[in-house]
Amino acid sequence: MPTILITGCSSGFGLDTARHFLAEGWRVIATMRTPKPDLLPASDQLTILPLDVTDPASIAAAVAGEIDVLVNNAGIGWLSAVEGTPIPVVRDIFETNTIGTIAMIQAVLPQFRTRRAGVIINVTSSVTLKNYDLLSVYTASKAAVNALTEVMALELAPFGIRAHVVLPGQAPGTAFAANARERLAQAGGFPEPYAEMIEAVFARLTAGADEEKTRSEDVVAAIWRVATDPAAPMRVPAGADAVALFRG
Ligand SMILES: NC(=O)c1ccc[n+]([C@@H]2O[C@H](COP(=O)([O-])OP(=O)(O)OC[C@H]3O[C@@H](n4cnc5c(N)ncnc54)[C@H](OP(=O)(O)O)[C@@H]3O)[C@@H](O)[C@H]2O)c1
Repeated sequence: MPTILITGCSSGFGLDTARHFLAEGWRVIATMRTPKPDLLPASDQLTILPLDVTDPASIAAAVAGEIDVLVNNAGIGWLSAVEGTPIPVVRDIFETNTIGTIAMIQAVLPQFRTRRAGVIINVTSSVTLKNYDLLSVYTASKAAVNALTEVMALELAPFGIRAHVVLPGQAPGTAFAANARERLAQAGGFPEPYAEMIEAVFARLTAGADEEKTRSEDVVAAIWRVATDPAAPMRVPAGADAVALFRG
């Protein structure tokens, strides 16, 4: 059975993806910033490794073994105006969502290229399909990964390596939004001149609370499809809201 390495398995999509591939009999390298072995069923097929995508030493250690599929899932959210986003926060977002993804790709490519096989799946976001106010910095960090993946796929295809993006819609079921809110509170909250806009965004989110959104299993299904289907498209939306945006 092939081996999949997934980043950000402590919760949400990453954890559910690890569970699914394990249940399907794959060898799974579930990586977490702080390993929590109890989160996944004990199995000979499972390796849990510490991995912070902003830490080169932990990246090098995590990719030491053979890997067939890399899922760059680790990511952090942010909702605020550009003016109210301190540069250290901008750096954190890009370090994790964008540069961390590139660093992981660079780390697996030598073995993928040598074997002339391998699949890279980058989890970005459906917010890159439509513009939303107050999501500029987060969207920029994910749109850069979309562009990177599409161009990189051209240079990797001759080596038999596939590269794809999975674009989840809004998934209220994960800890993502709460983590983003905590990051915002730590950075001093919303800038006051944007208060009305912020209220409108929250009103919009509340008004749409009943609409069909993305479930973790939608994202797992999209990742499974890309990992197992050599003819999978380059960009795969995940979740009813993401599919609707993708179709335009
Ligand atoms: N939920 C949504 O609405 C949504 C929509 C579209 C796209 N996405 C994307 O989907 C991905 C997964 O999100 P989720 O909803 O499953 O959220 P989540 O539950 O917050 O999971 C994010 C994961 O990323 C990990 N992580 C954060 N910084 C890291 C770093 N420097 N190194 C390694 N791991 C790190 C977190 O680990 P810790 O526990 O250590 O913090 C956590 O395991 C993200 O890339 C996100 O941008 C989410």
